[in-house]
Amino acid sequence: MNTRIIIFLHLVFVLPALVNGQTTAQVIPKPQKMELAQGVFKITPATSILSQKELLTSAKQLKGYLEPALGYDLAVNPKSGKKNVINLKLDKSLVQLGEEGYKLGITPDNITLAAFSEKGIFWGIQTLRQLLPAPIFREAQVQEISWEIPCLKIEDCPRFKWRGVMLDCSRTFITKEEIKKYLEAMSLFKMNVLHMHLTDDQGWRLEIKKYPELSSISSRFHESFKEPKEYEGFYSQDDIRELIKFAAQRNIMIVPEIEMPGHTTEVFAAFPQLSCKGDTNKIHPWTKGYGVHNEVFCAGNEQTFEFLQNVLNEVSALFPSEYIHIGGDEAPKMHWKACPKCQKRMADEGLKDENELQSWFVKRIEKYLNSKGKKLIGWDEIMEGGLSKSATVMYWRGWVKDVPQKVAALGNNIIMTPTSHCYFDYTYEKISTERVYSFNPVPPGFDEKFVEKVLGVQANFWSHLDRTPPRIDRQLFPRLLALAEVAWTNNDKKDWNDFKVRLQSKLKSLEILGISYTIGNY
Ligand code: ACM
Ligand code: ZN
Repeated sequence: MNTRIIIFLHLVFVLPALVNGQTTAQVIPKPQKMELAQGVFKITPATSILSQKELLTSAKQLKGYLEPALGYDLAVNPKSGKKNVINLKLDKSLVQLGEEGYKLGITPDNITLAAFSEKGIFWGIQTLRQLLPAPIFREAQVQEISWEIPCLKIEDCPRFKWRGVMLDCSRTFITKEEIKKYLEAMSLFKMNVLHMHLTDDQGWRLEIKKYPELSSISSRFHESFKEPKEYEGFYSQDDIRELIKFAAQRNIMIVPEIEMPGHTTEVFAAFPQLSCKGDTNKIHPWTKGYGVHNEVFCAGNEQTFEFLQNVLNEVSALFPSEYIHIGGDEAPKMHWKACPKCQKRMADEGLKDENELQSWFVKRIEKYLNSKGKKLIGWDEIMEGGLSKSATVMYWRGWVKDVPQKVAALGNNIIMTPTSHCYFDYTYEKISTERVYSFNPVPPGFDEKFVEKVLGVQANFWSHLDRTPPRIDRQLFPRLLALAEVAWTNNDKKDWNDFKVRLQSKLKSLEILGISYTIGNY
């Protein structure tokens, strides 16, 4: 474009927008519908929050978000005042925007945030926070700033209901404080599921009262590897309750993953009798041994199921999530082939091969979980020996292209986390932010009638290589913001160049939230 045209376009579009403060109307994920208008709403000490009785908690939450940086009180439901108010309303007529949708109207006089449910109000509040200058995220009063919000109208709702992040807490223990930091950032960008990968070969990270050895032995690297102490440990059940509460206050569900039948050698460090060969394992860091071990739970031994059911009793009682993830990936079958107990099980159950034995294993666990009122999720290998009717499949093997279509054709739900776009342990050279952004969780050619089987999308972060908080942050950010938009915004509304501009405006907020991120090399 020639320079004179660019200057002209700036004068006509950009300058008036700047004068009106409109360039700050930069929200991630991009709202489905947004119309900018003239002017700004200004938060001042005279601003108050109005809410119905049912939304008092939301009103207090909004006040709590804003007051530290403002440095003054915002009155909630004062006796008088119809102007200069932020009005929160439940409106049943907004049912067409769904449980999580919201409508936001900002004029110089008032802000009105309406939604069908409290969840929608919460996401609308996140939009409101993003519309304010980034210092609003500071924990202490910020002087000499005008807290202006551009006038606009937004109608918004998510494309997918599962907008997830998986953190691998096993390969490297991730502290409760770090997890809270991620929950805070996730909620700001409207992500609503934290999948905690709590068990794997590098350590069992969840207190199980019935089996204290899981905390005392299975959560520790073998001393011969001289691993830093901060890479190991476990969450007490009280820690988990604290995280669940913190997450729920931010509209996030925590889904636990307890791996089986493979990726379980940390269990055999304490309970060797539960594997086919009965060997004791020394827990090693990922880089100093096999990534996938041949030892798996013995499927012919009833003690395996007694152990797992006891564990799942506590897990089901602890986590309110309707879903429990049971892993199911990368379980080599060589020991099952050689184990008399496993072979007897196959004969007794009429199973033709070890893949069917794995499916039998998973279905037995699923039945148990269902009896506790829970639904099972597994990595996509759970379909190899026959999938149950009700399991949800988490698709990760991006190179097995026909999995989504097959799962949906069977009528099962699927969550998209393929290695091609969603593996955030991979380098930015391999999966750039732009590549993440380009992802469409409904694959091209996907049959229209199966679209509703795609529950959503998730970023998976495996902690085997990047093991310190700043490095984990940089693997996640800014890619997570791109995935947030993939998960929330309709595909036809996405635009990479527009996203890049909005992303720039969010980097300051990330810094204030104490998050490191990768710059350049998107
Ligand atoms: C996986 O990456 N093994 C699920
Ligand atoms: Zn066996």
